[in-house]
Amino acid sequence: MPTPPFKIRHASVADVKAMARIINGSAELGLMLSKSHSQLYEDIREFHVAIDKQGEVVGVCGLSIVWANLAEVIALAVVPGARGKGLGQRLVRSCMREAKRLGIRRVMTLTYQQKFFEKAGFTVVDRMNLPMKVWSVCVNCPKNQACDEIAMIHEFTSVPEIGGPQDMEALAGPTPRYEVPVQITSIGKPVPPGTRGALTTLGVSGIPPFSGIPAKTP
Ligand SMILES: CC(C)(COP(=O)(O)OP(=O)(O)OC[C@H]1O[C@@H](n2cnc3c(N)ncnc32)[C@H](O)[C@@H]1OP(=O)(O)O)[C@@H](O)C(=O)NCCC(=O)NCCS
Repeated sequence: MPTPPFKIRHASVADVKAMARIINGSAELGLMLSKSHSQLYEDIREFHVAIDKQGEVVGVCGLSIVWANLAEVIALAVVPGARGKGLGQRLVRSCMREAKRLGIRRVMTLTYQQKFFEKAGFTVVDRMNLPMKVWSVCVNCPKNQACDEIAMIHEFTSVPEIGGPQDMEALAGPTPRYEVPVQITSIGKPVPPGTRGALTTLGVSGIPPFSGIPAKTP
């Protein structure tokens, strides 16, 4: 039987250098966020790769779990020479299958490639309907205040909804006010040796219950 020209498989640590090259090549063009080798090693279990006949990595895509009922397709890129052969779709669908297997009902993406993701079964949603995403990832993105990417979601209607109404509220908004525990280690004076600081809460408007405690209404 002839060897299929490309295969999709889970990434391994040996793939990291090629993955970084592919992802960061597109990141330099402003098409996606860059990834360091360290991030890729840490998160290697999230990634799927496309391999050509010579065993070279020619495409990459990750599935990052955001919440009980939401995962995100991340870091999708195919080397220019292998584009237009269906690898991008195969990589995304491989990640989507994994989300379904894990019992995650929705898969989202923030992208400039609307048509490509429509073909994979995603539809456009308001980015502001993804507050947990905004809190957990976008907060660290340099484009945070000026994001021009399109938010898209695919929903597996056959996958049961996990989590309570609070989870749904956090996904669909409006977002309530929550308090996020923070540790104050020093307030203007040195912390005495052996003191780890007091645990207090910081009220943050519009941020969903990541691990925080719902604020009491005054
Ligand atoms: C987006 C990308 C991953 C697509 O990979 P690919 O292997 O070329 O995609 P496929 O061959 O599976 O494309 C499948 C279909 O989508 C279409 N498509 C691919 N890229 C597209 C694009 N940028 N815009 C519109 N349609 C696109 C293809 O024409 C094809 O449609 P067809 O089957 O009707 O001809 C690739 O272009 C890439 O690496 N781009 C740079 C990085 C990037 O933008 N990543 C997305 C970050 S969210």
